[in-house]
Amino acid sequence: MVSPLTTAATSPSDRLGMPGEVSVISVRDLRKSYRVAEREAGLRASLHSLVRRQTRDVTAVRGISFDLAPGEVVGFLGPNGAGKTTTLKMLSGLLHPSGGETRVLGYVPWRRQKDFLRQIALVMGQRNQLTWDIPALDSFELNRVIYRIALPDYRRMLDEVTELLDLGPLIRKPVRNLSLGERMKCEVAAALLHRPQVLFLDEPTIGLDVTMQRRIRGFIDTYNRRYGATVLLTSHYMADVEALCRRVIVIHHGTLLYDGGLAGLVERFSGYKTLIVELEDPSLDLDGRDYGEVVAREEGRVTLRVPKADTAAVTGRLLSDLAVLDLTIEDPPIEDVIEQVFAAESAAGASVDPATAASVEPESAAV
Ligand SMILES: Nc1ncnc2c1ncn2[C@@H]1O[C@H](COP(=O)(O)OP(=O)(O)OP(=O)(O)O)[C@@H](O)[C@H]1O
Ligand SMILES: [Mg+2]
Repeated sequence: MVSPLTTAATSPSDRLGMPGEVSVISVRDLRKSYRVAEREAGLRASLHSLVRRQTRDVTAVRGISFDLAPGEVVGFLGPNGAGKTTTLKMLSGLLHPSGGETRVLGYVPWRRQKDFLRQIALVMGQRNQLTWDIPALDSFELNRVIYRIALPDYRRMLDEVTELLDLGPLIRKPVRNLSLGERMKCEVAAALLHRPQVLFLDEPTIGLDVTMQRRIRGFIDTYNRRYGATVLLTSHYMADVEALCRRVIVIHHGTLLYDGGLAGLVERFSGYKTLIVELEDPSLDLDGRDYGEVVAREEGRVTLRVPKADTAAVTGRLLSDLAVLDLTIEDPPIEDVIEQVFAAESAAGASVDPATAASVEPESAAV
């Protein structure tokens, strides 16, 4: 089941899509509206709705376009309700889109051809795919049959995931007796036993403690490097995104806001820098002294938020005015930047034309 793409990507994480390069995932003007039943509360309204059904369309995805090159790991970001899960469901063939064109490994996903399904995996942190009452190992066996994995390949892959995810005895316990983190490790293992070329990961680390998040993250990274798999990942944990993705696609209200390097996102959307100053005199108060907003203070270490354009001038003044032991200039945390992106978009209102709202970094593909 080794696709030609596997051999093409030697060091996948170091390669991002070059113009003209073949796309593993290609999305053009993808749209999805859900038809939802609508009725007012109360018995009268319930009875009325039996006779006359009122419906309304909810638009979840409003025409997004992007491409993923072989071996790319791309973060798919957006606030709650942005349309991320809807998009991943369309790309993995679970949902039929309302419009647009998509190809994944050359296939139209919603046709759900066997050869397509054998090469992809969708992991949803919010959903169980393993059967609750039986050990994960039994579900793995079932997947082996469904995906027609040859026994030697299956054994090799099982050994590999068991080691990488430290599954050990977990896979022999009924799934319902596992902790959330243990179950998630088994979910990820089950989804990858058939060695998919394309992974759609929808919040694979949700609710997990920091150690378990790191473990799953490390596993995704190893899998990507070892097999050249292409990964589209959603996560509300920026640590996942920073560790795995050099490129991010940001959507909001079903519209693409940004597609480019993670570093470029910070550069473009953050109007501030963080200055950390260590003062010789720890009692010195910088509040109201025109160096910028004091956001934290701790035993002579003062953190200032300074408009990007003023950084050089403020730094110069700090050094000449005060006895400074140390000074560092940092970009703000990525969480803050993402928040600013969404806040700016919300302030711009729903009337934003998606075509002009999208901020696509053309050179990003070669970052
Ligand atoms: N089956 C459905 N029927 C009707 N509306 C739906 C359905 N699924 C999703 N929606 C709506 O579509 C929009 C996008 O939902 P989606 O689950 O894709 O968001 P998301 O970006 O994955 O959010 P989250 O970060 O909370 O997981 C939301 O407004 C949601 O209420
Ligand atoms: Mg979701």
